[in-house]
Amino acid sequence: MMTKDLDKSFVANTYGRFDLEIVRGQGSLVYDETGKEYIDLSTGIAVNTFGMCDPVWQKAVTEQINKAQHTSNLYYSEPCARLAQLLCEKTGAKKVFFGNSGAEANECAIKVARLWASENKGDEYFNVVTLKNSFHGRTLTTLSATGQDVFHQYFKPLTEGFLYAEANNLASVEEIFANNKCCAIIMELVQGEGGVVALDRPFVEGVSELCEKYNNLLIIDEVQTGNGRCGSLYAYQHYGIKPDAITTAKGLGGGLPIGACLMFDKTENTLKPSLHGSTFGGNPVACAGAISIIERIDEALLAGVNEKSNYIYSALEDAEGIKSVTGLGLMIGIETEGDVSKIISKCMERGILPIKAKNKLRLLPALNIPFEQLKKAIEIIKEVAREIK
Ligand SMILES: Cc1ncc(COP(=O)(O)O)c(C=O)c1O
Repeated sequence: MMTKDLDKSFVANTYGRFDLEIVRGQGSLVYDETGKEYIDLSTGIAVNTFGMCDPVWQKAVTEQINKAQHTSNLYYSEPCARLAQLLCEKTGAKKVFFGNSGAEANECAIKVARLWASENKGDEYFNVVTLKNSFHGRTLTTLSATGQDVFHQYFKPLTEGFLYAEANNLASVEEIFANNKCCAIIMELVQGEGGVVALDRPFVEGVSELCEKYNNLLIIDEVQTGNGRCGSLYAYQHYGIKPDAITTAKGLGGGLPIGACLMFDKTENTLKPSLHGSTFGGNPVACAGAISIIERIDEALLAGVNEKSNYIYSALEDAEGIKSVTGLGLMIGIETEGDVSKIISKCMERGILPIKAKNKLRLLPALNIPFEQLKKAIEIIKEVAREIK
């Protein structure tokens, strides 16, 4: 049987896959089983930070795999310790917990928030505020944190203690803080799965002030926005706020599963022995790859991300068939006049791979996508958006 038939027969039917099998790639070019070439605009949903088979990442990962592939958290391991040091030095965080995915990073942050409340405010301050239209993961608790009813259907009862505020509505956050026993707010600064919508700066600054006022933790979900994606190492740096914890995953690993919860001054000593753990968390191969990613997200690379972002915005401004462009850095949402699924199919025919977020086209290209490939892809998007209205 061919891959597509095997998959349909044996893989759990949870994904609406495109009719495409990707067999290999190099940089921002990927190839299907017939050898057809595509410009990759989604990098495995913001994972392959430097594209497919990036040689620096490959070297770091293969060197480590030839030394030790896994040690368990019963022993010390250099890549895990060095990655934690690097993340702390680059962000001002004090401690890092490693897991294997974005959902696990958020689970950790939620546990940290409740633990912190139990030590500092009282066990009854267990409520965590999140925003409507957010996305925080698929485990039952992160699903409960996700502020979209459509994800909650069928899975009730949900984990208790999540309250949903309106994004960009400070009064809605304050109303919840003032009337409930809360410990934290968790929010994405650009709601990715929610349609690539960046939060307003005054709202974000206001939430930060409200956290001070009500003694609640400010936790930023940087699973998708982090690791250079939005034009700064982490998007909170762009907004100029000081979170108490951030969570990240996806692009951190450059293609291998890793998640991290970074804890700052208020939360650094919250986790204690036996209160949390993960068999694979801090895996040396994933961490060695992640070091090679984080070390290269420097000013020059970020300037390139912002330059490419500006290019996309200006190239699509006033383009026929395009209603709006949203997002930050190389996390871009494009609202089209025509049906987005039809537009994506046509784009794939023409050799580019954008994906979808709600009713928008979503672009998450490699941070180092060559300008020529990006320009070619944007021209194709313009043509297709003009044709399909
Ligand atoms: C903001 C955000 N948080 C959490 C998650 C969940 O991450 P994972 O799928 O790695 O568990 C995602 C995944 O799309 C995300 O975009």
